[in-house]
Amino acid sequence: MDDLFVHTLKDIYYAENQIVKALPKMIEKASDEQLRQGFERHFEETEGHVRNLEEVFQLMDMEPEGVDCPAIDGIIEEANEVAGEVDDSNVMDAALIAAAQAVEHYEIARYGTLITWAKLLGRDDCGEIMKRNLADEKATDEKLTELAESRINIAAV
Ligand SMILES: [Fe+2]
Ligand SMILES: [Fe+2]
Repeated sequence: MDDLFVHTLKDIYYAENQIVKALPKMIEKASDEQLRQGFERHFEETEGHVRNLEEVFQLMDMEPEGVDCPAIDGIIEEANEVAGEVDDSNVMDAALIAAAQAVEHYEIARYGTLITWAKLLGRDDCGEIMKRNLADEKATDEKLTELAESRINIAAV
């Protein structure tokens, strides 16, 4: 179980680093001002998530290390493919939100699991740090839903 916990920690560490690389491209493609600002804010938060995870590795006396995560690579790859096929800027914003929410949901799933396992393994100290990341992911997901439902989806139709 300890090994599975560490594997999953390395998985989300890799994923967060991939998201840091992907977000600038999404910021560039976003037309809606509020959406772009939301992505910019989450880009900064994501850099914080990487640092928080490095703190978790440190608490466990480990060097921060990632392990390939085909799931997040696939989500990002699919987002790039879809974005490549969209011309209309309103439709692009709707597509970007859809892609970003798939990313957030992946992160929420991983942190939910990791926090539960950390508790079971007597590593509440690690769990507490990851709860901060989880709170950011959930807040971002909610803001994206709000933006999509209140305006962006409607403009795209
Ligand atoms: Fe994150
Ligand atoms: Fe996120």
